[in-house]
Amino acid sequence: MEALGPVRVGQAGLGNWGKNLVRNLDDLADLRWLCDASPALQEQFAKRFPGARVTGSFDDLLNDPELEAVVIATPVPTHYALAKQALEAGKHVFVEKPPAMRASEMEHLVALAEENGLVLMPGHLLLYHPGVRKLKELVDSGDLGDVLCIYGNRQNLGVIRKDENALWSLGVHDLSVILYLVGEEPSEAWAHGNAFLNPGVEDVVFCYLRFPSGKIAHMHLSWLDPHKMRKITVVGRDKMVVFDDMELERKVTVYEKAPEEPSQTYGEWRTRTGDIFSPKISNDEPLRIELAHFIRLVREGSTGVEARDGLAVVRALEQLSDTLADHA
Ligand SMILES: NC(=O)c1ccc[n+]([C@@H]2O[C@H](COP(=O)([O-])OP(=O)(O)OC[C@H]3O[C@@H](n4cnc5c(N)ncnc54)[C@H](O)[C@@H]3O)[C@@H](O)[C@H]2O)c1
Repeated sequence: MEALGPVRVGQAGLGNWGKNLVRNLDDLADLRWLCDASPALQEQFAKRFPGARVTGSFDDLLNDPELEAVVIATPVPTHYALAKQALEAGKHVFVEKPPAMRASEMEHLVALAEENGLVLMPGHLLLYHPGVRKLKELVDSGDLGDVLCIYGNRQNLGVIRKDENALWSLGVHDLSVILYLVGEEPSEAWAHGNAFLNPGVEDVVFCYLRFPSGKIAHMHLSWLDPHKMRKITVVGRDKMVVFDDMELERKVTVYEKAPEEPSQTYGEWRTRTGDIFSPKISNDEPLRIELAHFIRLVREGSTGVEARDGLAVVRALEQLSDTLADHA
């Protein structure tokens, strides 16, 4: 088989997050194009990456027959249109989260990718975090016993956004992890919140999800909070585990705490407390692992699982968003 060489990739969106993607792509792929609407950013990136062509027009990337893949890190409302254009032009697509703001749009992207044999990978960064991988391993091994409930805390003071509420901006992360751990789509989804600062943009959102298996989940999402929290707690029947992304070393902590069966304790529910320990978690950069996965999919082909998982996340976000609007 002919050697294909590094994947030829172009990126649109060179802002706060985009610059991290570019840095990794420059190492992992053949970075051919850089695109941003801002002339100042074009100039800055042209100097830093002289091997790439720089443009303000996304069409330049799509019209390059040699370009295999595009990475999209523009603002959320632009994702769907850009990803659709790229798939229609026959390019593999990595698109920051969420790829679309309506489930029907995401369904369209998934169908386009499948029909054309193209990779469509949403940027659900946490799914590539070694700490979240460890959570999944613990859940799937049965070590925690049956999972009963999961809750996420994603709170901070700021960044206060104007065009995306806390559900879409912050919730997409926790939701991707919760669906990944549970392996089901919610049968019930409720969100309550309030827009205190900018009209129509909820700053504080509380979400409740219930799954067909009976598992339940909760998310507290806020940029009006004194605590900086990036935490996911999984309560199992036999053990409990916490992933805390604010911790430098002990990112995952397993608590051997559980209720004891009444039959073993003379008809009374009691609790048992055992060891508390932190498994070793690799320090590898999640973004690098995520992009290396995308590059591998482009070369080896995709089963479409990433795109379908992304669709499940947008579907749940839409359900939550609809109830949030009902209660506004
Ligand atoms: N995975 C993560 O952890 C994570 C973290 C932060 C942001 N993000 C995502 O990354 C994306 C970008 O966020 P950001 O904070 O970098 O935003 P940003 O506003 O700093 O950057 C967006 C850039 O896109 C450019 N742009 C807008 N429309 C364009 C178009 N049509 N063509 C080319 N360029 C265009 C803008 O000029 C700007 O430079 C968002 O989707 C956000 O949700 C992901």
